Amino acid sequence: MLAGKRILLIIGGGIAAFKSLDLIRRLREHGATVTPVLTKSAEEFVTPLSASALAAQKVYRDLFDLTDEAEMGHIELSRAADLVVVAPATADLMAKMAGGLANDLASTLLLATDKRVLIAPAMNVRMWEHPATQRNLGVLKEDGVLVVGPDEGDMACGEYGPGRMSEPLAIVAAVEDALVNGPLKGHHIVVTSGPTHEPIDPVRYIANRSSGAQGTAIARALSALGAKVSFITGPADVAPPDGVGVIKVQTAAQMADAVEAALPADAAVFAAAVADWRVKTASDKKMKKDGKSLPKLDFAENPDILAGVAQRKKNRPQLVVGFAAETDDVEANATAKRKRKGCDWIVANDVRPETGIMGGTENAVTLITKDGADAWPRLSKDQVAAKLAAKIAEALS
Ligand code: C5P
Repeated sequence: MLAGKRILLIIGGGIAAFKSLDLIRRLREHGATVTPVLTKSAEEFVTPLSASALAAQKVYRDLFDLTDEAEMGHIELSRAADLVVVAPATADLMAKMAGGLANDLASTLLLATDKRVLIAPAMNVRMWEHPATQRNLGVLKEDGVLVVGPDEGDMACGEYGPGRMSEPLAIVAAVEDALVNGPLKGHHIVVTSGPTHEPIDPVRYIANRSSGAQGTAIARALSALGAKVSFITGPADVAPPDGVGVIKVQTAAQMADAVEAALPADAAVFAAAVADWRVKTASDKKMKKDGKSLPKLDFAENPDILAGVAQRKKNRPQLVVGFAAETDDVEANATAKRKRKGCDWIVANDVRPETGIMGGTENAVTLITKDGADAWPRLSKDQVAAKLAAKIAEALS
């Protein structure tokens, strides 16, 4: 099943484009959301209206459409998907991809995306067998592009041989292989994210600053590699990803209970910014200011969820990953934190306000393991998530 998965479908200009309309239907039947993109020549074979009606989505066609840019920029469009599918992938589109050209919307999206790309080639047999196309195919495979087909058979042009686009259901199976049967298939991973809110009274609370953006991106990236994800989130600014099990909590105590209930798991990633303290007894009525005395709040320490899971004897996940938000001596503090908490990895980040990381779209992290510290370059939070998910897949394999 492809429930919650988002496919950006680029339809190239070939006679096989008519099969792409059926592909949209099949992908949706399997639970995916499909956003179609038509090249200029694709519009000679299928209409934007049919693609849009079948996808129940807006169809994107033009790189310089200012309305589109105002609604969703082309970079964002290329990254908002879990997988980019090119069907049919014509000889021309394959050549553009192999050469890194970006002279229309389709080729620009393919160059800008940070997601995996699956192509379903379709062309005349001589064009397919031409050394130029085979050379381009080799380059694309080396770049990590996934390929389904082409099939052998009678072609619309009257010739016989390899060049027919794979049937829609075979393309759906390849999409499932890429997204659901990924390297984390069969693995259960718990991810905590967002802040916790510790009530003082019914209207006031104590919290840490956290948008939940990095934890959400990690849950999405793990799910894209095929993991079953239990996503336990406090009140975050960003919406939880589709296709994962979401458990919403408010307090640290609720988060600890939800983690306990979600175990056993193969790995656990604790990205939440859990409040360290709670008010011992929250007032059940709004506390009034009387203009004279200040309220006295008695604090209690919250359970350390990460340390608790990392140090347990029974049901300890094989891989326990914690986060460290530091403002100074990032590497030394995070290395000490890894030992103190008993976890396997710490993802450390520098959250001094001048870095703009807190609440921003980028992150500069250092991964601390038993083998030392690995400083990653400044990346988007999605890219950090993809890199971390790939490392987790490697560690669990
Ligand atoms: O000790 P500190 O809060 O800096 O540790 C951060 C790491 O510990 C994060 O991975 C966070 O999710 C986790 N943590 C937790 N429970 C707490 C406090 C922190 O799981 N009560």
